[in-house]
Amino acid sequence: MNTPSRLVVLISGNGSNLQAILDACKCGELNAQVVSVVSNKADAYGLTRAKNAGVEAIHFPKLENESRNEYDARLADYVSTCLPDYVILAGWMRILTSSFLSHFPNRVVNLHPALPDTFPGTHAIERAFEAYQRGEIEHTGVMVHLVPDEGVDNGPVLATEVVAIHKEDTLETLETRVHQTEHVLLVNTLKKILEEKVTRSY
Ligand code: GAR
Repeated sequence: MNTPSRLVVLISGNGSNLQAILDACKCGELNAQVVSVVSNKADAYGLTRAKNAGVEAIHFPKLENESRNEYDARLADYVSTCLPDYVILAGWMRILTSSFLSHFPNRVVNLHPALPDTFPGTHAIERAFEAYQRGEIEHTGVMVHLVPDEGVDNGPVLATEVVAIHKEDTLETLETRVHQTEHVLLVNTLKKILEEKVTRSY
């Protein structure tokens, strides 16, 4: 067995996708270890999930008078000390600048609850639900992609999965279906990239 990959997971909220990663690491589905969980929000439930799993949980707020670039550089300094193989954005709701991204080329992976080039940014599921009600779309989806630059929920796509929307759906039932799809797609995609890492040369 190869050495487990080191993951740093950045979150801003509930952390259900973090939980999927933690569970997959624990049961051996992912040959990886979450070495730190970082949240920009103090009350993110994902921090509790990390602590419950015995993983370092860090609240990393932006300081008053700190610019975005300064915050991102300070965050990169911290994350670098964790020696991550990959940085996973699992519900991280801040746009990262090159002050962070330049430290981890091809190592930052984002999850977004929509298909490529649709509904970037916040409230993607709600916006897809509304677009469906207006007859503009027939389905939505989920994607996992690399984050090369400041483009919002945009970058080389690693995996996508279509999520059906049904006539009888409420926003809540659609959200549940999207999140269930995310939990599986994120873990499966991480599994693939971690396996590739063994044969890829950096
Ligand atoms: C997930 O749906 C994730 O795709 C989304 O935030 C949610 C976090 O849920 N991310 C974005 O919208 C990024 N633009 P979680 O905290 O339960 O994992």
